[in-house]
Amino acid sequence: MNKPLLVMIASLMFAGSAVALEGDASAGKAKSAPCAACHGADGNSPAPNFPNLAGQGERYLAKQIHDIKSGERSAPLMAGQTDNLSDQDIADISAYYASKKASTGQTDPALLEKGAAIYRGGIADRSVPACAACHSPTGQGMAAAGFPALAGQHADYTIAQLKAFRAAADGREGRANDGDTKTMRTVAFKMSDSEIEAVASYIQGLHH
Ligand code: HEC
Ligand code: HEC
Repeated sequence: MNKPLLVMIASLMFAGSAVALEGDASAGKAKSAPCAACHGADGNSPAPNFPNLAGQGERYLAKQIHDIKSGERSAPLMAGQTDNLSDQDIADISAYYASKKASTGQTDPALLEKGAAIYRGGIADRSVPACAACHSPTGQGMAAAGFPALAGQHADYTIAQLKAFRAAADGREGRANDGDTKTMRTVAFKMSDSEIEAVASYIQGLHH
């Protein structure tokens, strides 16, 4: 693994470790009732553009809900959903989804080789780092560091997120809540549509 990437991983891991509230998964179950329509009762969503939340890291989930609530991450379909959540509600809901088991999907066989190569090895000629370095080879992520799990996630959702990071990297409207290091904006900026589609399909079939 190259040195700048290791430095980036290390700085991300120790950055922003604000004292997190302790979440109560059983309280979170009741509080997540309004979310079930889109994210599924157990956090495995029925629609490919609604992300699965089951088995996702608690720290990552809490950060995203806070970012959506504050508007740092734009999510028009979630408008109003997070307005009335307290910090404790967010901690509880995050603990609930983190405790559920993620479902898995399938990789398109035609995209397997290309997607696996990018996920495991990156794209050397454009210095796109291996996704596995931060999201782990099995896609389970690194929960304590806030690196999200990707395994089994709907490909449509993953494609939309990578394109949103890429758009924001280019100064357009997109997703820019990946911090001062711009980790994911930098990763996605150099990827083509077909590379994004291949790696997203590979991720959909990953399980751990
Ligand atoms: C009307 C459908 C809908 C409802 C209801 C809804 N969500 Fe979402 N949620 C979405 C969509 C769509 C996204 C993806 C947004 C984007 O494109 O960035 C999302 C994204 C998220 C994410 C980010 C996931 C990730 O992997 O980064 C979290 C966390 C989340 N929602 C939690 C909740 C919670 C908690 C509730 C209930 C309080 C809720 N959502 C209610 C549709 C919904
Ligand atoms: C240096 C570490 C690092 C590398 C390398 C990396 N990621 Fe990420 N990724 C992150 C972090 C950290 C986040 C969470 C950003 C945030 O807090 O919003 C993230 C978020 C994501 C998300 C959003 C997940 C969701 O549920 O919305 C996707 C999709 C993603 N990465 C895919 C990839 C892919 C594909 C690659 C390889 C081409 C890759 N990442 C390489 C660290 C990394």
